[in-house]
Amino acid sequence: MKHVLHVVGARPNFVKAAPVLLAVREKGWRQTLVHTGQHYDRNMSDVFFTQLEIPQPDFNLGVGSGSHASQTAEVMRRFEPVVLEQKPDIVLVYGDVNSTVAAALVCSKLLIPVAHVEAGLRSFDRTMPEEINRIVTDRLSDLLLTPSADGDMNLQREGVSPDKIHRVGNVMIDSLVRLLPLARKCPKNGFPEKFALVTLHRPSNVDSRENLQRVMSSLVEVSEQLAVVFPVHPRTRQRLHEFGIGFDALHFVDPMPYIDFLALQSRSTVVITDSGGIQEETTYLGIPCLTLRNNTERPITVEMGTNVLVGEDKARLDLELENVLSGRSKRGVVPPLWDGCTGTRIVDALSDFLAGH
Ligand code: UD1
Repeated sequence: MKHVLHVVGARPNFVKAAPVLLAVREKGWRQTLVHTGQHYDRNMSDVFFTQLEIPQPDFNLGVGSGSHASQTAEVMRRFEPVVLEQKPDIVLVYGDVNSTVAAALVCSKLLIPVAHVEAGLRSFDRTMPEEINRIVTDRLSDLLLTPSADGDMNLQREGVSPDKIHRVGNVMIDSLVRLLPLARKCPKNGFPEKFALVTLHRPSNVDSRENLQRVMSSLVEVSEQLAVVFPVHPRTRQRLHEFGIGFDALHFVDPMPYIDFLALQSRSTVVITDSGGIQEETTYLGIPCLTLRNNTERPITVEMGTNVLVGEDKARLDLELENVLSGRSKRGVVPPLWDGCTGTRIVDALSDFLAGH
């Protein structure tokens, strides 16, 4: 029987791994789940496991927070004995976080095959730590599972052999498709009828006082036209506290469980974000998304979806908001292979790969 080992560590990747865990279970293979502990707060981790019905991890490495080097090194140090003992046929890593690159590095040196779910995405901006993680992980992976054609093209341009690349679609959308009916039943919980939903956690927006102050002032202006609901990531909360920034005009709430956040997204008038995954979820939902970044590793959300990159341009934010409020927001379509069946296609690709090994 084949043995697949999954490595997850941070919030977005719980959402990506859930459909693959389900599909592997249906296939009847043995599977082992390792949680690195990069995210450890109850509402950044445990509630996701519960709502997405992810089994309890077989191993929790408990690495916690730290600098990039120390967090990555700690995952490597603690993961190596686990993978040596488990001897899986293949290790699945997800997305672009520090836990992803750390696990890929360990496996490639132990000659254990690595499959990268969400391969090939590029922002072409190496000031983003995630971009470094994407490049290194893809370079080391044996099986590159891409969400869209741009991913295939990026990899081929970097010289990856086409037989390693499998376009499987967007696995995050599998979770959305599965749980949207439940989200639609969530009570409104006193949130306003019309609102802008905001999320913010990129180092480029929140780690400098000046940038965070600038973004927050823009949001206060937004709130003069439309209520702003802002579930605050722990990193952002820490910075707001450190810099002494606080604004009563915004509804700050704690990070939300997956289904509750999906309910809010689907009911929002507009989403303002610097997240990667939320650019995709809004495209699927047809909700206008204004992204506070100058680039995106998910260009299909701009080309086909509802996403607009407003970067740091305050005038552009005002203009796009005006478009939304006057009913002239960008319309989009759902990209191909964003259909809720990516988990199954991933298992098919794994099956072909393992048959040849
Ligand atoms: C990480 C990922 C980012 C992803 C994001 C989703 C990397 C390089 N970045 O960023 O790609 O979009 O997760 O959230 O891997 N903290 C807590 N509790 C937690 C987790 C974090 O308080 O459960 C605080 C810690 O003080 C920590 C800070 O948040 O230092 C940042 O956490 P970290 O995992 O380093 O990166 P994220 O900003 O969450």
